[in-house]
Amino acid sequence: MANTKLLLTDLLHSGIRHVPSNYVRPISDRPNLLDVQTSHHSIPFIDLQSLNGPNHSDVIKEIGQACQHYGFFQVKNHGIPERVNNNMLRVSNEFFQMPEGERLKIYSNDPSKTVRLSTSFNVETETIANWRDFLRLHCYPLDDYIHEWPSNPPSFREYVAEYCTNVRSLSLRLLEAISESLGFQSDYINEVLQKHAQHMAINYYPPCPQPELTYGLPIHSDPDVITILLQDNVPGLQVLNNGKWIAVNPIPNTFIINIGDQIEVLSNGRYKSVLHRAVLNCNEGRISVPTFYFPSPDAVIKPAQELVDKEHPALYRSFTYNEYYTKFWNRGLATENCLDMFRASST
Ligand code: OGA
Ligand code: NI
Repeated sequence: MANTKLLLTDLLHSGIRHVPSNYVRPISDRPNLLDVQTSHHSIPFIDLQSLNGPNHSDVIKEIGQACQHYGFFQVKNHGIPERVNNNMLRVSNEFFQMPEGERLKIYSNDPSKTVRLSTSFNVETETIANWRDFLRLHCYPLDDYIHEWPSNPPSFREYVAEYCTNVRSLSLRLLEAISESLGFQSDYINEVLQKHAQHMAINYYPPCPQPELTYGLPIHSDPDVITILLQDNVPGLQVLNNGKWIAVNPIPNTFIINIGDQIEVLSNGRYKSVLHRAVLNCNEGRISVPTFYFPSPDAVIKPAQELVDKEHPALYRSFTYNEYYTKFWNRGLATENCLDMFRASST
């Protein structure tokens, strides 16, 4: 049966027992779900409570170590009320449960749209689809965008706006801490970003009858500065560490933070933008809400002069963020790092 549905969610409502062929990956490119590190080994878990206290420098050190060795960490005592996160997850769930007609009002495959519902990753260019539907929103400055957001469910704008505002403050604190951990003034990264942008995705990964054949999101690194991820209580995120996949299992009221490609460049490779993926399961749908922090499109990104010397030559050439993102989007999610196209030796 041909897929005449725009969204995976609605295809599944019509009842299928097998993954349609356009989602099936070649054997060499499937998630080996059994070959994953157990919960004994996870990404660093950092308590932000002491960031503003006498142990400030210890927390900065922990963050620096995590960025260097994992590119990923989880945070607790992050200052965002649990209620705000719960409302965000609840309204996300409600959104994907609305009738098809209500949701499809904002369906679009045009990435320049500041609000859009779509599926997979880039349906215009990709050959294999991903088991994901997503709503993508621009969220900063809030007043420029909020009137475009879905007005249903009725509490959507209120809850999502409250969430975005809170996550923005957390992002700024983390960018200050990361700047300090590299030996800079706390406002260093913030200055480089210029008029930075904040986008958010609400990902819905429906249950998958054959999770061993496909991905929610295939292996990729994030093209941004940092990503702050809120997830519900269903596992799915996996992070590559020393050649092994680590499952990042949900811990209530924590956020998962990862370094994006732009910090790898700014730090001249000291901090890593690490490969990760979202896998599926047969029984439960999963919601995840990443917030992406971007530089202004015309911001110039290059290795910080202070981190370049004889022993550490510049690994990347300078570029505008606009140039980077255009390349990222057009090539699709591929294992080869987009950063490779910006190495100092290549043109
Ligand atoms: C992403 C991403 C992981 C997840 O959206 O870039 O990596 O668990 N998401 O949804
Ligand atoms: Ni990602």
